[in-house]
Order: sequence, then structure tokens, then C-alpha cells
Amino acid sequence: MVVKGNALYDDPAFLDGYRRLRRSGRALNEPLEIPAMTAALPPVAGARVVDLGCGEGDLAVRLAEAGAVDVLAVDASERMLAAAHPHPRVRYRRADFADFDVPHESVELVVSSLALHYVEDFDDLVARVARWLVPGGAFVFTIEHPMVTAPVVAADCVVDDYADEGRRERTWFVAGVVKYHRTIGTVVTTLRRHGLWVERLDEPVPTAEHVAAHPELAIHRRRPPILLVAARALELPTGNIGGPPEQPGGHRTDLG
Ligand SMILES: C[S@@+](CC[C@H](N)C(=O)[O-])C[C@H]1O[C@@H](n2cnc3c(N)ncnc32)[C@H](O)[C@@H]1O
Repeated sequence: MVVKGNALYDDPAFLDGYRRLRRSGRALNEPLEIPAMTAALPPVAGARVVDLGCGEGDLAVRLAEAGAVDVLAVDASERMLAAAHPHPRVRYRRADFADFDVPHESVELVVSSLALHYVEDFDDLVARVARWLVPGGAFVFTIEHPMVTAPVVAADCVVDDYADEGRRERTWFVAGVVKYHRTIGTVVTTLRRHGLWVERLDEPVPTAEHVAAHPELAIHRRRPPILLVAARALELPTGNIGGPPEQPGGHRTDLG
């Protein structure tokens, strides 16, 4: 049996394992993913936001509390959404990445935490994200690092078959969990193809002190577990083939 991302979090056995991990203090979200995401986010006061794969809404609520005027938080899982935290400026919607859509140029920010490695057609999703963003809008997301999604053999940290992109099946609490591997090069070129210029890449790993306190994290210094990408929608003048245009007042290279 295989379980795709859109059904995975409604599988009781999987969800039980996932929630135990998140509550155990051993998950990578708090020490690595959340700080990396927070550092990469642009100012959100007044922003309209889409959160893809919002889960229980932690990031969506943080963005609303930071001043976003509207956060449309999207997830395929009925059970995750049933446990989502209510907030007056967060709207939860059950939808699949494959066909979710919002009007053109209707949001300033699209975010996603550790969900887009479940997307089969990344090019199609990025094309839609690029349409949703206003010029200058940002797309900030984390995924499982391609060095983690690459190996076909579940060896410790031997990276293998890196160039063979596509579907991978793994056991993660349950057998047959489907994720999609793509290289960093493919991620960046797909974003650029749709006019999204990468301003920041981050590969957060635990500190040596963190590993000393939690030795089970040592593997995450041997190969990075998470890739963060922050990209910005720019309007390219006709004929520009060499790089992003100069922005009035200087080109920002960092979203933080
Ligand atoms: C690892 S969880 C991350 C949840 C949340 N972003 C966080 O960081 O706590 C991945 C989420 O992506 C959602 N998801 C996976 N595939 C999806 C799809 N095809 N369409 C919509 N949501 C999907 C899952 O239901 C799950 O809630």
C-alpha cells in the first residue's frame, strides 16, 4: 500500500506517530525549521498570505499575530485542520496542492513549511504561486533536503541516486509514504523559469552544543535535513536575460 501526502495525515497510525514525534521534543521543527523560516520571512504587516500545507496552523497564526491581514491556510488533511488553532485573521481551507488556486496578484506572501516534498508536479505549483503573487511578493518555503529525499536505500547518510528525480517510497511511521525528490538545481531553475528569483538558500543544521545535549541529532550535521528557499517575484523588463533588474533604491538580497 502507498500513502500520498494528501491522505497521509488522515491515516490514524501515521498521525499518531507524527504527533508523538512533534510532542517529544525530538522533532526538527523547533530547533531548526522554525528559526530558519522566521529569519527568512519578509515583514508581514498588512500582507495577504497563503500557507500551503498549514497543518495545525502554527505558522499561519504566527504570521497573523505578526500583522498579516489575511492568512489563507490550506491543507488536505481533515484531521490536521480539525486540530488547527483558530485566529480571526486565519481562514482554513481543505484543499489539495494539485488544484488549489487563488486570484492572480492577490497575495504578498506564499509560505510553506515542510510540505512541498509531497508535491508531484512542482513546476505546475510554482507556476500558480507566481501568478498569485503581486510584483515584489515573496515565496518562502522549507522542504526535506534533497540529500535526504535522494537516497533510494535507507542507509544512514549515504547519498545515492541524487540525479534521479521523482517519486520515492519510504517507511515513516507507516510503510509506503510517498515523497518527491528533486535536486537543488531543479528547485532553483523551476522558480526562475516562473519569474521567482532566489534571494536566500539556507541549510539549517544543529549546533555542536545542540548535538552534545541531544546525541541523536548528530546525523543532521553529517548531511543537512532541511532546505529553505526564499524567492521574490520580480517584473523583468523586456530583453533582460542576465539577471534580475535593479530595484529602485538598490536590490535587496535578503528577505530577513
Ligand atoms: C510535515 S506536515 C507540516 C505541517 C505544518 N506546515 C508544520 O510545519 O507544522 C505536512 C503537511 O502537508 C499536508 N499535505 C501533504 N500533501 C498535501 C497535498 N497534496 N495537498 C495539501 N496538503 C498536503 C499534510 O496534510 C500536512 O499537514
